[in-house]
Amino acid sequence: MRASFSSIFVIKYVIITKSKHLTIIVVGKYKTRRIYMKFLKFNEIDSTNNYMKENVSSFENHDIVSAKVQTAGRGRRGNSWLSPEGMALFSFLLRPERSLSMVEATKLPFIAGISTLNALKKIKDGAYSFKWTNDVFFNSKKLCGILIERVKDDFVVGIGINVANKIPEDIKNIAISLESDYDIDKLILKVVEEFSLYYEKFMSGKWLEIVEEINRNNFLKDKKIRVHIGEQIFEGIAKNIAEDGRLEIEMNSEIKLFSVGEITIEKDYY
Ligand code: BTN
Repeated sequence: MRASFSSIFVIKYVIITKSKHLTIIVVGKYKTRRIYMKFLKFNEIDSTNNYMKENVSSFENHDIVSAKVQTAGRGRRGNSWLSPEGMALFSFLLRPERSLSMVEATKLPFIAGISTLNALKKIKDGAYSFKWTNDVFFNSKKLCGILIERVKDDFVVGIGINVANKIPEDIKNIAISLESDYDIDKLILKVVEEFSLYYEKFMSGKWLEIVEEINRNNFLKDKKIRVHIGEQIFEGIAKNIAEDGRLEIEMNSEIKLFSVGEITIEKDYY
């Protein structure tokens, strides 16, 4: 059987196959019944998002692909994503019960962000925050990035978290690693479990509660920021994240709403 995550106790992993490059395991037990959730663990792969997208028909809801190293990790806006060993690098599948509208789909990055933040907090509390649109920050620096890609009615949720990897010197002012020996598989499972809970909440009409929670963790709030949209740059003070997911920015005493844009933060506001 396949089950919603809400009452799963992950008791043990059952290894199905193990080779030099790949381990396939099933995870979990639902009350007294075993549930099957595939968790593919690669040592090295180009990108876990690519793999899941290319093989989407062989996956089911909540199945996971992880890798120790990615050779062509991808970030948002076509950026590449440095993927050394020690990072949690994974993608999981969301297969909704019905086709999601465009508006609903725009909520998923927020759901993935707040789920990741909570998973991390539950493992060990700390100064985590949510940076619009869907980064998780730790001690005011980027800890995690999320890339969600749609394949027809499915969504591949790709997440990279700096767990035990060292941050290169040239980006140490903006990025951070937990530099901790967390059990990466357990962290991944916790993120997917949290996601399934928040997603259920969203589907049961409680989006406003989720936005409120995101706003309580809003890293940008009251910071002086710049929004870069193509060649244009807008400057102002970040306020709340609106119900529709847009960021409110105060400019010349007026609130403007932004749905896209790369954010930079004035140094003194970090
Ligand atoms: C960002 O630009 O902040 C998003 C980065 C997302 C990186 C993750 S790592 C696992 C998955 N596979 C990829 O190629 N990208 C995502």
